[in-house]
Amino acid sequence: MKKGLLAGLIGLTLAGSAMAGHGEKPHAEHWTNATLTEKLAAMPEGNIANGQALHVQMMCNSCHGEQGESPSRNYASLNGQTKEYTMKMLLDYRDSRRWEDYKQANIMVKLARVMSDQDIADVAAFYAEQDMKAWDVDYTKDARIERLVAKGNANIMLTPCASCHGVHGEGNGITPAIAGQVPEYFVRTMKAYQEGHRNNDVHKGMSQFTHDLSDEDIKALANYYAQLPGGEK
Ligand code: HEC
Ligand code: HEC
Repeated sequence: MKKGLLAGLIGLTLAGSAMAGHGEKPHAEHWTNATLTEKLAAMPEGNIANGQALHVQMMCNSCHGEQGESPSRNYASLNGQTKEYTMKMLLDYRDSRRWEDYKQANIMVKLARVMSDQDIADVAAFYAEQDMKAWDVDYTKDARIERLVAKGNANIMLTPCASCHGVHGEGNGITPAIAGQVPEYFVRTMKAYQEGHRNNDVHKGMSQFTHDLSDEDIKALANYYAQLPGGEK
């Protein structure tokens, strides 16, 4: 990527992100299992050192922190994320599949559009190498929430979160790590699935699972996962 172009773009984007909305969503083909598997298999091997350099050059660190550990409660944490999930998200932003139309979420679409497949693979490899960190949140052991995580809830057709996201919230392939995620972002994105603003998941799984969760449960789940790394397992 050309340096001048990048500086101009970041300037524009930072100015633009103060405005609400990034306009009409362009048409984007939804993934099928087959097209997603094929695309991820065709992605180049990521280079961790190049990923770290890009993370700084493209100013990803200004929002997501030096190691991808978001310093502010506004931005998603990327440290310890699976490579496949990070790549899928950046491809989804680039191709307008992921399109939450509010404030700083806009910047992700603009930045991803100037990233090559190699750039995407590189930053994904860098984030996957970083340790997860716990947040200091208000969480006291809550048996009901931990049952929801481990056992799900047949009454609302909720499959256990742990069956996909792992018993320590560590994620696996395209299923993201959610342990140590910023709780405010966790709540926002769960609400976006529930309300249909975020609909880039392959089989609309998360849209279904969030359908009957109360705001209170979502908040408790966010706090549970936020304190998980290194906490009570
Ligand atoms: C101005 C702040 C800002 C900058 C700069 C920025 N991001 Fe983001 N990023 C965000 C926000 C905010 C979100 C979450 C959007 C939402 O709430 O839906 C996000 C989401 C993401 C996600 C998805 C996280 C998830 O858990 O689904 C990835 C991956 C990501 N950013 C990577 C990057 C990379 C790589 C760069 C640099 C090329 C970058 N970001 C630069 C603010 C920023
Ligand atoms: C059947 C498997 C499955 C189950 C069960 C499941 N998830 Fe997910 N979850 C996924 C997948 C796959 C994604 C990524 C979707 C995409 O590509 O956007 C995801 C995404 C998420 C995200 C967004 C992460 C981010 O960084 O943006 C959160 C938060 C989340 N899940 C929380 C939960 C919670 C809490 C539960 C239990 C109440 C749960 N999930 C149950 C598979 C699952």
